[in-house]
Amino acid sequence: MAKPRVFLSRELPPDVMRVLRERCDLTANLEDRVLSKAELIAATTGMDGLLCLLTDTIDAEVLDIQPRLKVVSNYAVGFNNVDVAAATARGIPICNTPGVLTETTADFAWTLMMAIARRVVEADRYTREGRFTQWEPMLLLGTDVYGKTLGLVGAGRIGQAMARRARGFSMRVLYSDIYDPPADIVDELQMEKVSLEDLLRQSDYVSLHAPFTEETRHLIGAPQLAMMKPGAYLINSARGPLVDEAALVEALKNKRIAGAGLDVYEHEPKLAPGLIDLNNAVLAPHTASASLETRTKMGMLAVDNLMAVLEGKRAPHTVNPEVYG
Ligand code: DGY
Repeated sequence: MAKPRVFLSRELPPDVMRVLRERCDLTANLEDRVLSKAELIAATTGMDGLLCLLTDTIDAEVLDIQPRLKVVSNYAVGFNNVDVAAATARGIPICNTPGVLTETTADFAWTLMMAIARRVVEADRYTREGRFTQWEPMLLLGTDVYGKTLGLVGAGRIGQAMARRARGFSMRVLYSDIYDPPADIVDELQMEKVSLEDLLRQSDYVSLHAPFTEETRHLIGAPQLAMMKPGAYLINSARGPLVDEAALVEALKNKRIAGAGLDVYEHEPKLAPGLIDLNNAVLAPHTASASLETRTKMGMLAVDNLMAVLEGKRAPHTVNPEVYG
């Protein structure tokens, strides 16, 4: 039987490439760059399946030109790059990769929190510049993490993984979410539900773990930053547009809050003017899930999703399951 024709928009880890080549008639973009929309449309035309990244915009224009396309498998848990309503209207399943990146992403959010609180990036720079000439009582004083209050905006899988880490640091854990984790998890992790306003007022570290939707755009803007403690830190490893980045730059510049650890940006890969000049921000290039193990697991799950649909089955993770009827 002929293998299904699949387009992959960017090279993935070697094990994933091997499995894709075994299971599909694969065409892949092996150039180290994001394709333009026109290139993506041209390359996807005539394909049965598309395996794409969060940097690819999959909208009605892309989908309309694909009469043969049966599935879009997104290599990410977030799917705000896809117009899901447009896909649903065309009967196309959109798949994502939840679960496999939870712990790795929480590890990185925790790393950002530790790095900004303990000034690790500044310390590294200071040491490399040859400025470490003696031990000093007041050198690079940071802020403790253990024993402080962690506020989780979003208490889904990654939020809960953060709460689990917080137990080891003897932290009080607050959360705000429209959904509640299962009661046994709330009890086990001693998570306290509060309003977003109370969370912002009480937390020493505010960490964002909500999906990006029109409702969550600028969830943290100037009014919310003004509610945070002056010594508090904001950590964002979720999606950039959750934060009004210009307002954050102002708050950091004016020391309205103590600092921020950011992995995601409002207009990725661009950064808000002024952000790179601030010492009280630690910046990463959207690498929270970037371990070889996890990026491989994401790829394997994306392939499982893709192949299930191409073999006439329901994918393990479909964000618009109503397309299956
Ligand atoms: C996701 O999966 O949504 C992350 O942002 C990238 O791993």
